[in-house]
Amino acid sequence: MLSKSLEQAINTQINKELFSEYIYFSMAAYLASIGLEGMENFFIVQAQEEHFHAMKMYHFINERGGRVKLEQIDKPQFDFESPIEIFEIALNHEKFISKSIGELMDLAIKENDHATKSFLNWYVDEQVEEEDSMDTILNKLNLINGQGQGLLSLDKELGARTFIPEEE
Ligand code: FEO
Repeated sequence: MLSKSLEQAINTQINKELFSEYIYFSMAAYLASIGLEGMENFFIVQAQEEHFHAMKMYHFINERGGRVKLEQIDKPQFDFESPIEIFEIALNHEKFISKSIGELMDLAIKENDHATKSFLNWYVDEQVEEEDSMDTILNKLNLINGQGQGLLSLDKELGARTFIPEEE
């Protein structure tokens, strides 16, 4: 059985994952509006991943005898300056999520809840990938430095990303 404090903390994290889904959809929509459909695809897939992260927590709370409580989702940023700005925001956002997962883990350790610690390990590992993925693309964008051919080539590369649901 989940403690009330962990139940509340995981519910708060569900809200953050759903906000992540929302902000990545907003980025996808902006990228579609400037014709970068590969990058749009990248963020649609990213949004799907965030939904999956939230659903994993939804199932975990239920399995541990807790109750999922959904709260209001903040409005995401609507306008962006450039793809570089988007990936900077996305990287910073992932760093914020990593910190938040770390705090959840701290609470699970404090409460000596081994099942929650084991569950959260998946997210700790996932966050390493999430930050690396945004950082790698940001580095490429900085190398390209706004040059059209490079941007289109990266856009094509990101258009190949697909959502592969993992087993829960
Ligand atoms: Fe669910 Fe991108 O962290």
